[in-house]
Amino acid sequence: MDSEIIFETINLCKEFGGLVAVDNVNIKVRKNTFHAIIGPNGAGKTTFFNLLSGNIEPTSGKVIYKGRDITHQPVYRTIHFGVGRSFQISNIFPNLTVFENVRLASQALGADNFKFWRSASAFKQYEERTWVVLKRVGLQERANVFARMLPHGDQRKLELGMILAPDPEVLLLDEPTAGMASEQVPELIALIQEIQKAGDKTVMLVEHNMNVVMSVSDQITVMHQGAVLAEGTPAQIAANKDVQTAYLGGLYHLNL
Ligand SMILES: Nc1ncnc2c1ncn2[C@@H]1O[C@H](COP(=O)(O)OP(=O)(O)OP(=O)(O)O)[C@@H](O)[C@H]1O
Ligand SMILES: [Mg+2]
Repeated sequence: MDSEIIFETINLCKEFGGLVAVDNVNIKVRKNTFHAIIGPNGAGKTTFFNLLSGNIEPTSGKVIYKGRDITHQPVYRTIHFGVGRSFQISNIFPNLTVFENVRLASQALGADNFKFWRSASAFKQYEERTWVVLKRVGLQERANVFARMLPHGDQRKLELGMILAPDPEVLLLDEPTAGMASEQVPELIALIQEIQKAGDKTVMLVEHNMNVVMSVSDQITVMHQGAVLAEGTPAQIAANKDVQTAYLGGLYHLNL
């Protein structure tokens, strides 16, 4: 099966001073798949996402998105190309309402074009888009609530809505379930899966919960000390001796 590659990195490196946070990473992500990036704390997962989304520039190497070199493109351009991302630390505006948060995020696309952004019809489009997104993530009833008043699980849904607002093709989700009560995790994961399947989207997920990773992923890349340690399907990763030694051993009991 040779489906289209949406993201590719070529010898991607990022150094911070003497520390190599991302070490010569070559990865191919197939379109419309669920691709997890796992690895211990400090493995370089968030730095890797920052490189893909244009939040930081690599020391060397390339980022290719849909065949186009986007290595030196800033975030507002990558959003325009269809890359959406979440942050490990919450990115919502606590003193704005749920609706206002999503509307601002939906304006990210139009902000590239000042005239379009200013026109009244564009404003209406953003409002319509905001309702569509709020429905999608199940927060339409909460539209007028201040974001800071939302329970934690709903805040994570709001973040998902903010990523979806500009209608990205690929979603980079950095620990979307972090800090959630474990009984709330399946609902958020099911929502992400639904969005991926129904919208023909590619999801890249950084996640520490191995049960989640093993159950949702089409492909898993394991990072260790900045480099790719292994890549494969959940079954291949679970059976990989290097992965078991470096990472999974003791953390995850393999019962696939
Ligand atoms: N801006 C920065 N300046 C200096 N060092 C950094 C910076 N960002 C990350 N690092 C270092 O790079 C390495 C990789 O960090 P990164 O946050 O990418 O890991 P991670 O895999 O996301 O970890 P976690 O699972 O804890 O989120 C770590 O050693 C970290 O301390
Ligand atoms: Mg991280």
